[in-house]
Amino acid sequence: MKLLLSAILLYTISPTKSQWSFPDDFKFGVATAAYQIEGGWNADGKGVNVWDHLTHTNPNFTIDNSNGDIACDSYHKWQEDVQMLKNLGVDFYRFSLSWTRILPQGFASEINTAGVQYYNNLIDELIANGIEPCVTLFHWDSPQMFSSFGGYYNPVFVDLFANYARIAFKLFGDRVKTWITFNEPKVVCQDYNEFMGLVNEVYPNGVIEYLCTHDLLKAHAEAYHIYDNEFRAQQNGKVGITLNFEWSEPASVKSEDVEAAEQRRQFEFGLFASPIVYGNYPEVVIKRVAHRSKREGFPHSRLPKFTLTEQLKLKGTYDFIGLNHYNSWLVKASPEQPFGEPSYDKDVGTERFVDPSWEDTEWDGKIAPFGLQNSLKWIKATYKNSLILITENGYPDKTGTLEDNRRINFLRQYLNATLQAIHQDQVNVKAYTVWSLMDNFEWAQGFTVKFGLYNVDFTTNERTRTAKKSVEYYRSVIKDRVV
Ligand SMILES: *[C@@H]1O[C@H](CO)[C@@H](O)[C@H](O)[C@H]1NC(C)=O
Ligand SMILES: *[C@@H]1O[C@H](CO)[C@@H](O)[C@H](O)[C@H]1NC(C)=O
Repeated sequence: MKLLLSAILLYTISPTKSQWSFPDDFKFGVATAAYQIEGGWNADGKGVNVWDHLTHTNPNFTIDNSNGDIACDSYHKWQEDVQMLKNLGVDFYRFSLSWTRILPQGFASEINTAGVQYYNNLIDELIANGIEPCVTLFHWDSPQMFSSFGGYYNPVFVDLFANYARIAFKLFGDRVKTWITFNEPKVVCQDYNEFMGLVNEVYPNGVIEYLCTHDLLKAHAEAYHIYDNEFRAQQNGKVGITLNFEWSEPASVKSEDVEAAEQRRQFEFGLFASPIVYGNYPEVVIKRVAHRSKREGFPHSRLPKFTLTEQLKLKGTYDFIGLNHYNSWLVKASPEQPFGEPSYDKDVGTERFVDPSWEDTEWDGKIAPFGLQNSLKWIKATYKNSLILITENGYPDKTGTLEDNRRINFLRQYLNATLQAIHQDQVNVKAYTVWSLMDNFEWAQGFTVKFGLYNVDFTTNERTRTAKKSVEYYRSVIKDRVV
């Protein structure tokens, strides 16, 4: 009788829940990034990074003239952050290290012990509360010092990043078991003025993006090998990279549209994933950039070549692929753009648009959860059933409302798409991460776009955090393992 009653109750309480649940080894987390939350921009010996420099010299770069000088003040409020994580019940917390908090000038010759202490405190507090740290080494806040010699466009960047990675593994790798080298290198390489703190006066478009990509990939591989050779045996963790992927769905079943969508995926995701998995750029990218370069009068392709040694060094440098997914497009074939000024966009070619029936988010992008499922399926098929961790997905609004029903609706749909990918498509995806733990500094949007599960009151010195309704929702997903 008692059993029957609870069965009826269960049924009536959750009649709309999907039949599938998250497997026991599937993990849930939330993410942040150093510049977006920490503040303490010059505290205790921290050096200047490109975002400090950019927002200080050009305050109107952000739409609300704001900067990350204080942000969520997590440099001081990290204990409260950990309590919020504990309240959510997450398995892990994805955060990033501020390179110049640890190495003020960016170089390995000077270590800032106060910065190291900050991360030691945070990591220890996480572990004491049963939360795994998942650390991004580079989430866009490059040392400003590097701008003087061209940053990512100077191959010396590879060694500078490798040295920084080695120091991080050495300092924190006894407790950190999941490492992400770069967050969204595509964004870094395409919005170069913002992310390098310099104006592109040296290289033309259509050249600079590929030089940057080339160096970041080599830097990633270098860090991976350092971990393999010097740390893996004792520390036994995983090293991967996080790539952003906006899903490209063919606009029709016509073969030219199917091809166009695949071309776009290869230019946007394959450009980074293919070298790491297979040792070289995707065939379609190599061919198209070579072809267009030739017609533009370049003596050789604008896409740099990896030497055979470099290819061997790149191949297989991942223990997982990190996926950041927010948005989807319909893609169709378009006529070849005129030759002339080179550009990455012309290399990509194709045309993209959105389905008017897709619901809008409150900022940039649409709600199209099938795009997440298809991204996961495509990565599985294209990259040998690799282990995938969803390292970001989330919903932006402009108000930071505590009654964030639209965020809950978004998360439910994308979590459901993840369940479909696991159970229907047998994708090897083992983690889901909400961007973000709390409202924070959203780059050029300043504080006007809010992704948080927690609201932050940026008008008070206390930067008061308040749980939104979505905290309750995400906590229940983690606990009950259904959407
Ligand atoms: C999950 O997705 C499936 C397939 O699209 C759908 O039938 C089901 O209603 C969805 N469940 C929820 C809770 O959205
Ligand atoms: C933004 O600030 C810079 C530097 O102060 C100035 O040169 C520029 O004209 C400003 N732009 C706008 C749109 O106000």
